Amino acid sequence: MTEQGGVLLFVFGATGDLARRKLYPALYRLARAGMLGERYAVIGVARRTRAPHEYVRDVVEAVCAHSGADGHAHRQDIEAFAHHFTYSSVDIHDEQSFEKLAQQADHIERAQGLSGNRLVHLALAPDLFSEAVRSIASLSSGRGWLRLVVEKPFGTDLASAQSLQRSIMQSFTEVDVYRIDHYLGKHMVRVLRTALQRIACPPLWEARRIEVSLLESIGVEQRGAYYDESGALRDMVQNHALQLLATLVCDHDARSSRDAVCRVLEWLRPIDTVDAVRANVVRGQYGAGVVDGQAVVAYRDEPHVHPHSQTETYVALSCVIAAPLWADVPVFLRTGKRLRQKKSDITVQFAHKTVHIGLHPHAIVHDGVREEALEAELLFDPHALDAYARLIVEALKGDKTYFVHWDEVRAAWTWIDPIVACWKEDVQPIALYEAGGDGPPDACQAPLRRTSDA
Ligand code: BG6
Repeated sequence: MTEQGGVLLFVFGATGDLARRKLYPALYRLARAGMLGERYAVIGVARRTRAPHEYVRDVVEAVCAHSGADGHAHRQDIEAFAHHFTYSSVDIHDEQSFEKLAQQADHIERAQGLSGNRLVHLALAPDLFSEAVRSIASLSSGRGWLRLVVEKPFGTDLASAQSLQRSIMQSFTEVDVYRIDHYLGKHMVRVLRTALQRIACPPLWEARRIEVSLLESIGVEQRGAYYDESGALRDMVQNHALQLLATLVCDHDARSSRDAVCRVLEWLRPIDTVDAVRANVVRGQYGAGVVDGQAVVAYRDEPHVHPHSQTETYVALSCVIAAPLWADVPVFLRTGKRLRQKKSDITVQFAHKTVHIGLHPHAIVHDGVREEALEAELLFDPHALDAYARLIVEALKGDKTYFVHWDEVRAAWTWIDPIVACWKEDVQPIALYEAGGDGPPDACQAPLRRTSDA
C-alpha cells in the first residue's frame, strides 16, 4: 500500500512497448489489489502528440491485451483504472516542456490532494536516459520524495554505465535510484534461499556444479536494432544471469546485504584473454528453423538486424568464483534465443543430491522428485503479482532490497567487458545453430564441459 496522501507516477516512454506490455498491466494489478491506495495519478510522458482520451484508450487496450484472462473480463474496472491516467507530450531536450510538465503535475496534485511524493519510471530508449535525468530532477514537488526507477540496460559497457551514473548522481542520490532487474521481482527468486534451506541442502560451496540456464524460444521480436548492438551476453548475462548467481550464493539471506551480493560479482575470476575466452565461452547465432511447429527466420533475416551480423543470440560460459570457499565449484551460465522451449532454471548438483529450481516453469525438484507441497506453500501470493508489480510496489514503499545497486552494475560490467573485447580481437565467424533446437552443436560446447567438469 502506498503511504497516506497518495502518489503521482510518471511513466517516461508512455507509448513504448515496455509500458504497454509490462508497466500498465502491473499498475492495474496493484490498483486492483488496493496497493496503490485510494489516491494515485499517472502522467504518461512521451514525445509524440497524443490527446488525453486517446492515451487513456491506449492504456485500456494495453491492459486488456496483456493481463491474460483478466484482461477482457474486467474491462469496466480497467476503464475506471485508466481514468487515473493523463498524458503529456514532452521533448526531453526542451526545458520548457519540462516546466509545463511540472505545472501539470502540481495541478493534478492540488486537484486530487496528493502529498507531493513522486515516482518517475524511466522506460525510455536507453540513449535518452542521461539527457532525460537532468530535467527529471526538476520534477521534485519540494514537498515529498522523488524516486527514479531506471530500466535496464544500465549502459552498454563499463564506461557508458559510469557516464550514465555520473549524470544521475548530478541530480539524485543513490538512495533515490531504483535500478530494475525484473528477474529480481520474480517470485521464485524471492524464495530461492528458503527453498534450498527447506530441502536441507548442504552449503552451496560443497556443490559439484552450479548452473543458471535462461533459455528462450522467442527470437528478437521487434527489438532487432537494440539487440544487434547488444547480444545475449550483454542482454541477459550482464544482468539477469549474474544477479541470479549472486542472489544464490551470497552469504546473506535474501540479498539483505548489498556488500555480500556485490562481493560475489567481484570474486568472479576474469575471463580476459583470447585463450581463456576460447576455453570458457561458447557463442552462437540462430539460423532458420521451426519453433513450436512454426517456421521461423534466421536472426540475420529479422527486421533491423544487419544481414551479416556477428552478434551472438546464444552464450554459454563456465566461470569460477575466486574465493577460497568457492574455488572448486564450477559455475555454468547459459542463455539463448530461439531454442526448443522457454525454460529458466537453476540446478545445483552435490555429491549425493541434485536440486533444481525452475523459475519458468515454476518447479522445486529434489533428486528428480517435485516438491509440490513446498512449491504451493512458498509460491502462494494472494495478489498474484508479477515481477514488475512487485518491484513497483517496493519502489513506492522505498524498499531497495531487490533493486540493483550501482556497485553491482559496475562489478558486472567489469567482468563482462573483457569477454566482449576478446571477441573483438579474436575475429572468427560466429557458429550458427538451428532455431528450435538446443543451441550451438555439441562439439562447440566440449571445451566448456572439460573446464567445468575438471
Ligand atoms: C529481458 C531481455 O531483459 O529479459 C529480453 O532484454 C528477454 O531479451 C527477457 O527476452 C526475458 O525475460 P523473461 O522474464 O521472459 O524470462
